[in-house]
Amino acid sequence: MDTYKIGVVAGDGIGPEVIAEGVKVLEAVAKLDGSFAFDFTHYPWGCEYYLQTGRMMAEDGMDELAKQDAIFLGAVGAPGVPDHISLWDLLLKIRKGFDQYVNLRPVKLLKGAPCPLKNAKPEDIDMLFIRENSEGEYAGSGSWLYKGKPNEVVIQDGVFSRHGCERIIRYAFETAKAQGKSVTSISKANALNYSMVFWDQIFAEVSKEYPDVPTHSYLVDAASMFMVKDPKRFQVVVTSNLFGDILTDLGAAIAGGMGLAAGANLNPERKFPSMFEPIHGSAPDIADKQLANPLATVWSAAQMLEFFGYQKWADRLIAIIEEMLCEKKVLTPDLGGTATTSQVGDEVVRKLQDAERTQQ
Ligand code: NAD
Ligand code: IPM
Ligand code: MN
Repeated sequence: MDTYKIGVVAGDGIGPEVIAEGVKVLEAVAKLDGSFAFDFTHYPWGCEYYLQTGRMMAEDGMDELAKQDAIFLGAVGAPGVPDHISLWDLLLKIRKGFDQYVNLRPVKLLKGAPCPLKNAKPEDIDMLFIRENSEGEYAGSGSWLYKGKPNEVVIQDGVFSRHGCERIIRYAFETAKAQGKSVTSISKANALNYSMVFWDQIFAEVSKEYPDVPTHSYLVDAASMFMVKDPKRFQVVVTSNLFGDILTDLGAAIAGGMGLAAGANLNPERKFPSMFEPIHGSAPDIADKQLANPLATVWSAAQMLEFFGYQKWADRLIAIIEEMLCEKKVLTPDLGGTATTSQVGDEVVRKLQDAERTQQ
């Protein structure tokens, strides 16, 4: 039997609540399948750990995680700890340290999901964002000069390497080619006269290797407008780290909300573990109240199953989420329901068991 070692970093705020449901669902899938198992190791890292120890993760935390086949992360960030510390020393440390340079974020409107766009149908909103996840605006390069003095200056560099741009753009083309879709690049070369000019140049170069894949290229401001006015035009989308961050929250808003938005941070070469996490944050406004929607985390669990080669289970989980959205019986308040976080997780498990029973 294959056993997958999963490092679980539930983190802060609603992180532990949604991750508990994700783990519950993954355990149910493994049990129903019978040919594989998960071995979960839970790490207590996050902002409370920081307040007790002065560190966001254990000193040998990255070595620990390196032993895992994948990482399942809830959310990081709490009001008592500066965000740039908590995120840089945990979430971004993992993404960068394990060279998880592909951030895959589906923006797909499932049937039954609420959509603020007038007349938008599920088939109109079906994008796959491929966000550069290792460098760009998140390179962490810069300086803070004359701190606290009247002539204070801060500089934040964007770092766009040929290697980094080529590999993410090529990943997008490979994905589009395999799925028979178009690739849209989103950049901003009219204002960012080094980084985005370079990005566009590399996009044009790589696209020559894929003459059969249709391409589009938009400036990020126009792209934001089109995502709302005419989302159909986007299929596979490739963009920089910061633009991808911002546009996928916009994507979440048009595809059912933060409670349904999933993401995978992949190291495609599988030299390091990949990490699966909902794209939302720790939502301190609703934490510890069982109000959080765990379906984004369940969707991320589906991405993990797909990554391990269990497409059937990934598809089944998405189908179950869609069924629950259409039935509108067991949903959290963000989707207009009254169910708790754990009731939603239990319902997913019940539907998994039902589906397996009817298949037999
Ligand atoms: P957020 O995503 O936590 O919350 C934004 C809004 O969406 C809130 O109103 C929240 O209640 C709602 N929401 C989010 N997830 C939900 C869910 N599963 N179910 C129902 N409602 C949900 O963003 P924020 O408020 O800007 O950030 C809060 C903290 O989280 C900050 O410290 C931030 O840095 C951090 N953050 C972490 C991650 C991560 O760990 N991946 C991502 C984004 C933000
Ligand atoms: C996300 C988050 C992170 C990001 C933050 C918390 C650093 O917003 O995963 O979308 O910007 O990547
Ligand atoms: Mn974000």
